[in-house]
Amino acid sequence: TALRKTVIAGNWKMNKNRAEAKALIADMVPLVKNASCDVVICVPFTNLETALEATKGTNIKVGAQNCHWAESGAFTAEISAGMLKELGVGYVIIGHSERRQYFGETDVTVNKRVRAALNAGLKVILCVGELLEQREQGITNETVSLQTKIALMGVTEEELKNIIIAYEPVWAIGTGKTATADQANEVNHAIRMVVASLYGKKAGDGITIQYGGSMNAANAAELLGKEDVDGGLIGGASLKAADFAVIVNAAK
Ligand code: G3P
Repeated sequence: TALRKTVIAGNWKMNKNRAEAKALIADMVPLVKNASCDVVICVPFTNLETALEATKGTNIKVGAQNCHWAESGAFTAEISAGMLKELGVGYVIIGHSERRQYFGETDVTVNKRVRAALNAGLKVILCVGELLEQREQGITNETVSLQTKIALMGVTEEELKNIIIAYEPVWAIGTGKTATADQANEVNHAIRMVVASLYGKKAGDGITIQYGGSMNAANAAELLGKEDVDGGLIGGASLKAADFAVIVNAAK
């Protein structure tokens, strides 16, 4: 809505080698150059430098898909927020459900990573979302509320301005099963109320809350038309320049 910044972010996940990344970005640049929303692509670590180079002078911003909470140290295979910042990366996804499901990340480690990213000066795309069992049990709002509250522990109101929340129902990710626009709007609104309860109404009204989960060229306009849906976090459809551009250009 007019109150908030709309952000369309692509989450490439573990896709594209360097040459493919370069080609995809080259295709994307002219198609999204007139976007009225912010455009971010979150690429594998190995593509960050390539993406930064290929997006130079364009309206596409570059993000990573995770970062560690420590500044440095004995954490084999991890990447710190400071390392990303030094490269010139602007954004980082934290708490994606694939990290939570397959790599043992918890609300507590998500919180540590969020705080480290903010400390390093990165903007955070914080992911929350319920499992299918949780939706069926009627505890969707409780689930995302708790995830949000724990993730934001120790985050100040000033720092909150550098956080985007992405509501991604786990059952809708990569399944082709999208939440209805009303379902997305309802949970996004519930998350906004949680933020308002923690930081006040103005902060709640101001925070960008995306929807993610099988958002595509065909359904984006309807989802993005909803009051509380301030953008999207796009997986599969962000790997095709034309589809991603349709989504970007559907965002006001
Ligand atoms: O982070 C984006 C995401 O998990 C959604 O993936 O492929 O369902 O758009 P996809």
